[in-house]
Amino acid sequence: MFVDSTFWKGTIMQNEIRVFGGIPLNGEVKISGSKNAISAILPALTLINSETESRIGNIPNISDLQALCNILEEIGLSTHWDREAKTIKIHGLITNNYLSEENVPKIRASSLFLGALLAMTGEVHMPFCGGDQIGVRPLDIHFYVFEKFNIETKIENGYIHCHATTFPLKNTTIYLRYPSVGATENALLLASRASGTTYIYNAASEPEITDLAVALTKMGAKISGAGTPIIRVTGVQKLQPIQHEIIPDRLELCTFLLALICTHGKGVIKGGIPEHCISVLHTLIDSGVDIQYDSETIHVDATRGYYKPIKIQALPYPGIPTDVQPLLSVFALLCNGNSIIHDTVFKDRFTYVNEFMKMGVEMTQLYDHLWINGPQSFTNAIVHGCDIRAASALVLAALCAPNETTVQGYHHIQRGYENFKDKLIHLGAKVSHSE
Ligand code: EPU
Repeated sequence: MFVDSTFWKGTIMQNEIRVFGGIPLNGEVKISGSKNAISAILPALTLINSETESRIGNIPNISDLQALCNILEEIGLSTHWDREAKTIKIHGLITNNYLSEENVPKIRASSLFLGALLAMTGEVHMPFCGGDQIGVRPLDIHFYVFEKFNIETKIENGYIHCHATTFPLKNTTIYLRYPSVGATENALLLASRASGTTYIYNAASEPEITDLAVALTKMGAKISGAGTPIIRVTGVQKLQPIQHEIIPDRLELCTFLLALICTHGKGVIKGGIPEHCISVLHTLIDSGVDIQYDSETIHVDATRGYYKPIKIQALPYPGIPTDVQPLLSVFALLCNGNSIIHDTVFKDRFTYVNEFMKMGVEMTQLYDHLWINGPQSFTNAIVHGCDIRAASALVLAALCAPNETTVQGYHHIQRGYENFKDKLIHLGAKVSHSE
């Protein structure tokens, strides 16, 4: 298997990016494949259990995927990640459903191996999954889904032990108390192998769910309603190998759009699906940003900027993504007047606020609300990003500040953005990265 030498193995690499800000970005940027879509589809390939190969394309070169490939290998499958060709090829048979502490705690998406292995073997044992430190991230809704499929869950010595009392699994009806992305994905995995038709009500409708449903449908499951709150799945006993291209990353698209806007730049974003970012695009358009878009391209001109303040709530799709709220805070600081940012999804996702304050701006946070009175300017500092989106928001802030700002925690960005630094350089930014 291909091994990335830069991949962190449990110890944090405090690598940093130095940004020489105050330069308007300009030019064209191409969006890579979606981190969160491939993070769901790789575990789903466990359902195939075949010596014939599956091939997934448009794979972004991000470090989170190495942990997923390692888990697939631990289960018994063979993976080949060709970074040049942007493909991962997978085949093989499951030989193990007892996962070690080595890879699972590194990423949140490892929770999907619960559903995948339960669907295939009726049993799974694994440590708790990890992921970004963005507040409490319980698994109770996942366990509720398991219960509906007659799966018992027990937590012992930091391990999750699940066992199906009826196997093969039987169809069920599920109402999710909250449209959790991960719990919906686990429900889809289980239902795709269960007999009969399963209904999932109040399902998450994020584009990554739809992409997972498309992949499962290619494998042979019969799925309707993905992308809406009611999904119907008729399972099959044997799922087939597939070829599939991952959808573009809507969160990367929003990041580069905001980088162009916040630096008063001008550019074109290609290779994304603007419709997946409607809430963000229209928040910015309503605020006064000159944005034109069609089905696959966005033109933005922020060279003449007077923007109205924004009042936003991060919500499940198609609302404003929680992942974009830290980036929208940078924009709110440029707007004229009082902006309000409210995160209803991850209520503690405001770790970047302290770091912004080190850069000389004022904002008031109370619980899940943030008040920002703009316009304000950033000054230089050494700051630290402690999750993917906080770190990318800090780089955006640094691009707005004059002179040199150091953003530590660049390894978080490498977990979720392909060639982030090089894409910024291509747009005219002056940045350098050291480990
Ligand atoms: N929740 C529960 N119980 C559960 C599951 C979730 O209370 O059993 C709560 C969470 O605590 C949170 C809310 O539900 O308050 C949303 O969590 P959800 O399960 O929808 O999120 P997730 O599956 O853990 C995925 C993405 C996140 C993204 C969220 C929301 C992946 C690997 N991660 O996480 O992406 O922020 O959906 O859209 O798909 C990122 O890319 O930076 C990132 C963190």
